[in-house]
Amino acid sequence: MKVSRVAAVAGLLASVLVTASLLPAAGSPAPAAGANSADRPLRALAGRQLLIGTAVDYAAFTSDATYRARVGSEFSSITAENVMKWEVVEPERGHLDFSAADDLLAAARRNGQHVRGHTLVWHNQLPAWLTQGVDSGEIDAAELRGILRQHITDEVRHFRGRIYQWDVANEVIDDNGQLRDTVWLRELGPSYLADVFRWAHQADPKAKLFLNDYNVEGVNAKSDAYLALVKSLLAQGVPVQGFGAQGHFGVQFGFTTASDVAANFARFEALGLETAVTEADVRMIMPADTVKLQAQAQGYSVLLQGCLLARRCNSFTVWGFTDRYSWVPGFFDGEGAANLLDENFAAKPAYSELQAILTLARG
Ligand code: XIL
Repeated sequence: MKVSRVAAVAGLLASVLVTASLLPAAGSPAPAAGANSADRPLRALAGRQLLIGTAVDYAAFTSDATYRARVGSEFSSITAENVMKWEVVEPERGHLDFSAADDLLAAARRNGQHVRGHTLVWHNQLPAWLTQGVDSGEIDAAELRGILRQHITDEVRHFRGRIYQWDVANEVIDDNGQLRDTVWLRELGPSYLADVFRWAHQADPKAKLFLNDYNVEGVNAKSDAYLALVKSLLAQGVPVQGFGAQGHFGVQFGFTTASDVAANFARFEALGLETAVTEADVRMIMPADTVKLQAQAQGYSVLLQGCLLARRCNSFTVWGFTDRYSWVPGFFDGEGAANLLDENFAAKPAYSELQAILTLARG
């Protein structure tokens, strides 16, 4: 993004890191942010420099008015946590159902929010008719390619003009830096990646098309593999325009640094891509305590500061914002408390930390 933002944040980094350990517990005002900003929502604090997003749990959105109101007041961007995924939008072959996603997009419009699209090609949450069809041999490779093309065309066309960034390909490289062994790679070969970006671009030429994955926040073997993949796609003229780091952290693993995230993003930006933090959350082994909550604030801080230090990191999205509705306990045994607000929507230290960073970054 803007050079001035980078300079301003770089200058303030040290002071933010120092104040981090002094930040108050949930509920009390944030001294570093100043009295006025303690009650200001993240989207207001971020102003125009950065979109602040959240994944939205559709069931919570329809059933919990407090949750729904907070989605609207706190965030300037949303991502459907599940309802744009293939198993939801095409539960039966040929029967498209965008109703839940349309509902979310209508609310986003009312709230003046941008929308990230998530996700078109993934190995999880595929419809049963598709996986079973491939397993039984009923769907061969040629037919599968046609099905994938249709899916991408239908979905991207449906939302055309309403999505600013699409996670076209999700988690397509494994932790060894190889193309992930998925139904897509096995059946269609590595060229499926060039195809899916081309098909998505045809269906909505204005949306920014992203690769998205976890464990790629800093410079490491996996993000190196993404860099090589992007170079190869660009050399073939493939319209890949963004790189998203999910940002699923855990306090028990420790975190990389903001400057590492920024340095990683910078090398994708040097190739002409936008960057984004797309699914930030920082889980912990339960029960939570004040030390873990403080460490969690540091994890969020690394991700937000890394994004602010990069030049073209235009959105920072958290994967849910309250511990009341979180994917973490269901997926990571014994872990939880990964979000900015607790189960009663009270601010945790991580929330105050993001407020403080955004306030300082405004300059
Ligand atoms: C998760 C959702 O949060 C859960 O509700 C769902 O059951 C499984 O998927 N990386 C991604 C997201 O790209 O789509 C995943 O979302 C979390 C990991």
